[in-house]
Amino acid sequence: MWRCGGSQGGRPPAASMERATGLNLSAMATDFTEETAADAVVDSFAKTPDPRLRELLSGLVRHLHAFVRETEPTVAEWERAIGFLTATGQKCDDERQEFILLSDVLGVSMLVETINNRKTGGATESTVLGPFHMIESPRRELGESIDLVGTGPPCVVAGRVLSADGTPLPGAELDVWQANDQGFYDVQQPGVQPRTNGRGLFTADADGAFWFRTIVPSHYPIPTDGPAGALLNATERHPYRPAHIHFIVTAPGHRALTTHIFVAGSPYIESDAVFAVKKSLIKEFTRVDDPRQAAGYGLDGPFWIATFDIVLQPDADA
Ligand code: BEZ
Ligand code: FE
Repeated sequence: MWRCGGSQGGRPPAASMERATGLNLSAMATDFTEETAADAVVDSFAKTPDPRLRELLSGLVRHLHAFVRETEPTVAEWERAIGFLTATGQKCDDERQEFILLSDVLGVSMLVETINNRKTGGATESTVLGPFHMIESPRRELGESIDLVGTGPPCVVAGRVLSADGTPLPGAELDVWQANDQGFYDVQQPGVQPRTNGRGLFTADADGAFWFRTIVPSHYPIPTDGPAGALLNATERHPYRPAHIHFIVTAPGHRALTTHIFVAGSPYIESDAVFAVKKSLIKEFTRVDDPRQAAGYGLDGPFWIATFDIVLQPDADA
């Protein structure tokens, strides 16, 4: 690494450096200042063959340098920031994605999601994927339960998958996952919950209809035992998400939709820790006491039902 020797009059002039090293050094490279730093780094990307990569790296460097110039972190603060990001990486494994969680609590996941789904027309709105869609959901028959434990208020979720013009989409696939009634996903409680509890992969019928049994989900805290939790703690933010069920819905010729439905009236519906609530995704879960309706869904007592259609955007409109 080049180190500035201080003894014989400091740094050699650029011209003699060039003669000595054979390098063609620009003024910016030889005289790094607060004002020229960002340009120097952006210029260094000039030969990047992929223009999009060049654009992304240049934008990142310009914004990052502007942030540093504006906030003037001390060396200790910068080391702390590096330590925070290091700890975020170290918290990740096959079943824990702390970087997604960090992006979520900073609102970046939701911003990317919203930018990429601007032209939804009449389609169902999207929301964040979250870090818990990490194992394959088991294929289940329509009407089957995704709750393998039997605790929590029984519930039916039903509706149809439609194209934007209202045409039903037979054979649409719905990948569904949710936390248990204590607010934990199966992957958070190995050995406590059966693997794939709260997960199912369903195929809509010939009318685009789907229905399955589950339990009314509960609100829950996102994991707080890592750097994302430390950030919430340091900023006195709560870690809770309102009660919800996740969906990824796909059908040929249509854009895949990643979304949730939120339980109307759930605590934290106004202050989701990851900013993911959209009003159109809030659904009523209605209590049903009619034993005949219960029997129709294979239930033997009162239950709650949420009904809604999911509208996908044709690829051609994307
Ligand atoms: C979730 O809903 O599974 C989730 C989303 C973002 C952060 C943590 C959890
Ligand atoms: Fe969730």
